[in-house]
Amino acid sequence: MDWTPDSWREKTALHIPADYPNPAALEAVEKELSGYPPLVFAGEARTLRQSLANVSRGEAFLLQGGDCAESFKEFHPNNIRDTFRVLLQMAVVLTFGAALPVIKVGRIAGQFAKPRSSPTESIDGQTLPSYRGDNINGMEFISEARTPDPQRLLKAYGHAAATLNLIRAFATGGYADLRNVHKWNLEFVSGNPQENRYRALADKISESITFMEACGVDGSDVRAIREVDFYTSHEALLLGFEAAMTRVDSTSGKWYDTSAHMVWIGDRTRQPDGAHVEFCRGIENPIGLKCGPSLEADELLHLLDILNPADEAGRIVLIARFGADKAERGLAPLVRKITAEGRKVVWSCDPMHGNTIKTDGGTKTRHVDSILSEVGTFFDVCRAEGAIPGGVHFEMTGQNVTECLGGSQEISEADLSSRYHTHCDPRLNASQALDLAFILADRFKESRLSGV
Ligand code: PEP
Ligand code: CO
Repeated sequence: MDWTPDSWREKTALHIPADYPNPAALEAVEKELSGYPPLVFAGEARTLRQSLANVSRGEAFLLQGGDCAESFKEFHPNNIRDTFRVLLQMAVVLTFGAALPVIKVGRIAGQFAKPRSSPTESIDGQTLPSYRGDNINGMEFISEARTPDPQRLLKAYGHAAATLNLIRAFATGGYADLRNVHKWNLEFVSGNPQENRYRALADKISESITFMEACGVDGSDVRAIREVDFYTSHEALLLGFEAAMTRVDSTSGKWYDTSAHMVWIGDRTRQPDGAHVEFCRGIENPIGLKCGPSLEADELLHLLDILNPADEAGRIVLIARFGADKAERGLAPLVRKITAEGRKVVWSCDPMHGNTIKTDGGTKTRHVDSILSEVGTFFDVCRAEGAIPGGVHFEMTGQNVTECLGGSQEISEADLSSRYHTHCDPRLNASQALDLAFILADRFKESRLSGV
C-alpha cells in the first residue's frame, strides 16, 4: 500500500487552514508533537473495533456523543465529569431498553477542529477568517485571535491528555461503578423531568446487584460492574495534527492514529480522492464516515473499497446525517446498496447536523422533535432494508444549557439566550439527552416485545 502518514499532503485538503503566517513554526510544532506520548494505545483501538464488529452483527449498540467543539474556555473537570456522567446515564437507560451492551464513545479529548461553511466571517463591514476551532484560532472577532497559531496545537494536546486522564480515572477508579447508579442522578440538574423515571430504573439495577451479591457474587470482583470501557473520538480534520500523532504499533506493526480510539471523516471532507480519505485509509483505527444528502450509493461503495478493502467488520461506522425531512429519501438507497453488496458496516444516526435551523433572531438551534423524528426514520429505514440500526451520534453536554428547542423542559426560542454557550453547533443539554435515551429505550423495548 503506497501510503505514509504524510501521503495526504499530495492530495486536495479541504477545510485545513492554509493561512498560518509562519509555516515553519507549524512544522516545528508538528515535529514536536510527533515525539509526544500517544494519547491512546493501539490495543484499545483494536478492542473498540471488536466491539464495533459486535455492533455490526446486532450484538451491541453504539452510543457516541459529546461537544460539537470542545473549547479551551469550557475546559473544566466539572464539564468533563458532567458529560461523562450523562453518557453513563444514557448508556444504562439504553442497555436496559435494548438488552444489549452499549459501546460508549465520547466526542471528547480532542474534538476541536471544525469545518466551516465559509472561510471568512463579516460583521459590520469587517471581514476576518472564520473561527475554525480552538486548536487553530480563537473565537473572538479580532484579527489577532482569528490568525491561526500553531501553539494552540500544543495546548489542545495538553487539554486532550488531561481530559483523557480524568475520564480514565472515572471509568476505572470507582465513579462509573454500577453500584453508583443512584449517585449519578444526585448530581444531576435539579428539576430534571426524567428524575423519577431514572430513579426507578436505578432502583431496579441496584436491586439486581444486591440480589446477585446476596447470591454470593461480589460486585467488586466483576469488572463489568466495577468499571466501564469508554472510548474517545473526534473528526480527523486537521491532518497535520493527526499525522503527528500517528505511530507504528509495535505489537502489530501497523499504523494507528493515537490521538483518539476512533476518528471520523466529515460530510464535507469525504471526497474519495481527497486528503482526509487518503489519511484515514492508512490507519487501523475504527473510522466513522458521515453520510449526508449529497452522497450517492455508488460513491459510498467506492469509499468503502478505499477505506475497508478487506471488508472487515468493526472498521467502518456509517453515520447518517440527513435531516428529518430528507432521512428516508437519502438513507434508503444507501442502506439498500450496502446491504445488497453484503458489506460489513455499522449504521449509526447523527440526527443533529441535518436539523440545524436559525431562529428569526439568527440563533443556530435544533428542535428535539426533529432529532427524534430523524432517529425514528433511521430505525425504520434500516429495518425495512434488512440492515441493523447500530448506533446514535449526538452533540450533547452535561451542562444545563439552552441551545436546542423542546424536550421535556420545553425550551422555547425565548429561552435560548439564557444559557447558550456552544462554540459551534447547538447541543442537547443533560435533560434533553436523557429524554432521548428513554425514548430510544422504549423503542427498543417495543421492538423486542414484538420480535421485530
Ligand atoms: C460534526 O460532526 O461536528 C460535523 C461537522 O458534522 P458533519 O461533517 O456531518 O457536518
Ligand atoms: Co457539529
